[in-house]
Amino acid sequence: MTTNTGLKLVERDSAGVDRAFRADVLAGLAEPQKAIPARWFYDDAGSQLFEDITQQPEYYPTRAETEILTERAGAMADLIGPGRAVVEFGSGSSVKTPLLLSAIAPSAYVPLDIAGDFLRAAAADLAAKFPGLPVYPVEADFMRRVELPGAVADLPKLGFFPGSTIGNMIARTATDLLRSMRETLGEGALLLIGMDLVKDEALLKAAYDDAAGVTAAFNRNLLTRINRELAGDIPVDQFRHEARWNDTFARIEMHLIAAADMTFTISGQRFTLRSGESIHTENSHKFTRRSAQMLLASAGWEPRARWADSAGQFLLLLAEACPPRSAP
Ligand code: AVI
Repeated sequence: MTTNTGLKLVERDSAGVDRAFRADVLAGLAEPQKAIPARWFYDDAGSQLFEDITQQPEYYPTRAETEILTERAGAMADLIGPGRAVVEFGSGSSVKTPLLLSAIAPSAYVPLDIAGDFLRAAAADLAAKFPGLPVYPVEADFMRRVELPGAVADLPKLGFFPGSTIGNMIARTATDLLRSMRETLGEGALLLIGMDLVKDEALLKAAYDDAAGVTAAFNRNLLTRINRELAGDIPVDQFRHEARWNDTFARIEMHLIAAADMTFTISGQRFTLRSGESIHTENSHKFTRRSAQMLLASAGWEPRARWADSAGQFLLLLAEACPPRSAP
């Protein structure tokens, strides 16, 4: 797999193992607080389970953001204006992208994603829905600056980053990403970004621990993936899913809790867990109106407008790329 700039995205060893996946898992499980980065949730089964999560009655973010895009499309279109090239970070397979594209009369659509097959399928889907709209999929890791196709070079840009995926990053990584989005999109660009709001703890915990057990299956699938791809023998059904509210960092954390003392092997390396010990698998930060705007501003994005759903659960913010300045 290669990027639009020719860089290799996935480095595999001679046995076909993703080196970055193995390195993250082995290093993360050797830490005193065991942890595995959330990006590894999304193999085919994990991506499907995430789609299923968005359909659960307890998981409000997708419905709330869709409501905002539906109800506030006119106000957004007035501020954004026609003729922009929409650059979506992580190509959406959902209904959200068509809602935005129908509202704002864009001149082109550029979905960016590291998962090439998924990207091409989503791009083909969009092209069929919007026959007159040029679609230029770019296979790239958008955590770094991406070179956009020449065809959109002179067009004004609108970045689109829905879903509150920014909340899955710690503050430093989120700022780095927003800065590199600014470099990718250039001066004068706009960014429409979703951020989930701080709310009642019980509602948050239910959203990340649904009654049907879909989020639990999503969390445990990470262990199944490790066993399959990294020659592991983790006893997956000996782990319990837990969603915790961390008030210091205003985030929901997902953990996998060992139900018994255990020893297992991954890629020839042995690991021991005591009963009750956790593997930290995800952070999902929640924002206030103020912290959302501060995060954007810290990365050179000046907030211009924001919209919430009728229940006040989720925010969509519109921000403008501003020239760097040395402020007091
Ligand atoms: C992708 N991301 C914004 C989701 C979230 O809400 O943090 C991932 C997720 N994890 C468990 N449920 C949903």
